[in-house]
Amino acid sequence: MKTAKHNRDTYLFVTTYTNMLRLSLMAPSHNVLVVEDDPDQRALLEAGLSQQGYRVSAVRDARTALHRLALESFDIVVSDLGLPGMRGDELLRHIRNVDANLPFLMLTGENDVKTAVQAVRDGADEYMMKPASVASVAQHISSAMSRRSKTIADDRKLKNADMAEVRAFLTGVQALVNSLETKDKYTRDHSKKVAAFAVRMAREIPGMTKQQIREIRIGAWLHDIGKIGIPLTILHKEGKLTDEEWDTVKLHTIHGAKILEPLSKSYPEVQRIVRHEHERWDGNGYPDGVAGNDIPLGSRLIMIADTYDAICSDRPYRKALPGEAALEIIQKGAGTQFDPNLVPIFEATYKEFPCATTTSSLPQ
Ligand SMILES: [Fe+2]
Repeated sequence: MKTAKHNRDTYLFVTTYTNMLRLSLMAPSHNVLVVEDDPDQRALLEAGLSQQGYRVSAVRDARTALHRLALESFDIVVSDLGLPGMRGDELLRHIRNVDANLPFLMLTGENDVKTAVQAVRDGADEYMMKPASVASVAQHISSAMSRRSKTIADDRKLKNADMAEVRAFLTGVQALVNSLETKDKYTRDHSKKVAAFAVRMAREIPGMTKQQIREIRIGAWLHDIGKIGIPLTILHKEGKLTDEEWDTVKLHTIHGAKILEPLSKSYPEVQRIVRHEHERWDGNGYPDGVAGNDIPLGSRLIMIADTYDAICSDRPYRKALPGEAALEIIQKGAGTQFDPNLVPIFEATYKEFPCATTTSSLPQ
């Protein structure tokens, strides 16, 4: 009796230990979310995949799946297509709206092939016909996850390469801005100041994303880059410009947008911001005469920051004016030259950028 019990205990110990060892040697325990309405299939997948070393959560419908996804982190979703209520393809679309990279394996009945193929087009990594053995589901999970992580790594490499290119381009452009500004003592550091103030105002606008702020910073900083294409005889002319010379100056917005073409992939808004930085709220600006909210937000912010810095700086024909004078001019122009919704933000922030002469120091 004693020997039999001892043998049984030893057997249990060895089996448990062997199972633990087997699990620890298997694929790292990834979190799998199984979405399956059929209770037998669900139980089978849950037990089978757990045995394969995965940590499995199994739910019966898409809404519960979305709820779990909002609360926990999963490495892959394995979902039936023909779920009651929200179908598997709809679940996939919801997931893709918030996570472009979460691996998704679709299980489908024989008649659903067309929809399943569409699901793969919509962002599912794989689809499998039911009934599927646990071993083949596990194999598909593993291949979907490794393909996905390769794609993520490739994307990251590509993005890093893109960013390195953008940084190199911006360094070159910075040299151009510097050369443009050092030629004219009245505009020294003008771009930096306009960028700092435009970004400060942008931060007051609810819902701005990091990308939008970055594009406004770059756009404001490079807003006059197109002046490189304008003859210095016109740019530095003392006295009134002829109509023809004035038309040439106006072209700096178009030249600027063209120069910044290499940024179009990483910062698509920058070109638009620069092209439209002289548009007026009432549509009487240039180069396109667009009005109101059709003018990019960054351009509307630059219009205020640029005007403010110009009023606050010495000019060949006058000394810098005080902040109160700038406030009055900008308030007067609300709804004609300036976006009236942005003027209150200007009023609330301009004192952080005190008016001084060309050597004024502003937050960078
Ligand atoms: Fe300009």
